Amino acid sequence: MILEVRNLTVYYDSVLALDDISLNVNEGEIVTMIGPNGAGKSTALKAICGLLKPQSGEVLFQGENGNGRQPYKLVEKGLCLVPEGRRLFTSMTVLENLEMGAYTKNDKKVFKEDIDKVYNLFPVIKERQKQKAGTLSSGEQQMLAIGRSLLLKPKLLLLDEPSRGLSPNYVNTVFEKIKEININRTTILIVEQNARMALEHADRGYVFEIGKIAFEDKAKNLLENDEVKKSFLGG
Ligand SMILES: Nc1ncnc2c1ncn2[C@@H]1O[C@H](COP(=O)(O)OP(=O)(O)OP(=O)(O)O)[C@@H](O)[C@H]1O
Ligand SMILES: [Mg+2]
Repeated sequence: MILEVRNLTVYYDSVLALDDISLNVNEGEIVTMIGPNGAGKSTALKAICGLLKPQSGEVLFQGENGNGRQPYKLVEKGLCLVPEGRRLFTSMTVLENLEMGAYTKNDKKVFKEDIDKVYNLFPVIKERQKQKAGTLSSGEQQMLAIGRSLLLKPKLLLLDEPSRGLSPNYVNTVFEKIKEININRTTILIVEQNARMALEHADRGYVFEIGKIAFEDKAKNLLENDEVKKSFLGG
């Protein structure tokens, strides 16, 4: 198991955002967390990668307790988050954004190999390497954000709503790329509004409902579950 979340409870001041949730991710899987707005999905990702301190519960990454760890320490161990909204440096070029994401930039040869891998996966990013990141389309920006995170060589990649705000065409591309990243041995935990699409591409899923996990199962079972269909997949 690459990630084990045990009995996680998170409050924002007096507001309970996660109420004793447990979940796990096995090495090599794509796992998705779906559910309505405000259910606590992003909170779960933030707690997993150390950006939020839970009131109680444990997060084990590769068997090690990450509680109290600085986020960058977890990044060094291979746990990376691509947050919602992408957080690019919009007035810097595409290539500069990639450089900001790379540990290897001081070793020119290794950096070039790493960048080439990103360019192979996202040819459109290569074409636009000299352009300011803020001038890219939303879909291209999402590719850049994901590409940049790959330079950190994640073992587990956390993605918060990578398809939000993208046209249907780009939604497909993003999911295809996620599959490709997964085939190249990165485990993926992805939060999605686009529940059906996410389940179609995932091995397993967790359905959140206001601070709790309402359902967990293989993705294909969730797609066929009548209650899940009615409440979360639009009938
Ligand atoms: N920084 C914060 N301060 C106070 N309350 C917060 C904060 N961040 C989130 N919350 C609250 O915690 C709950 C869970 O929020 P969270 O962002 O985790 O939900 P989500 O499932 O990611 O929703 P969405 O689908 O809209 O992104 C919500 O009620 C939200 O208002
Ligand atoms: Mg969210």
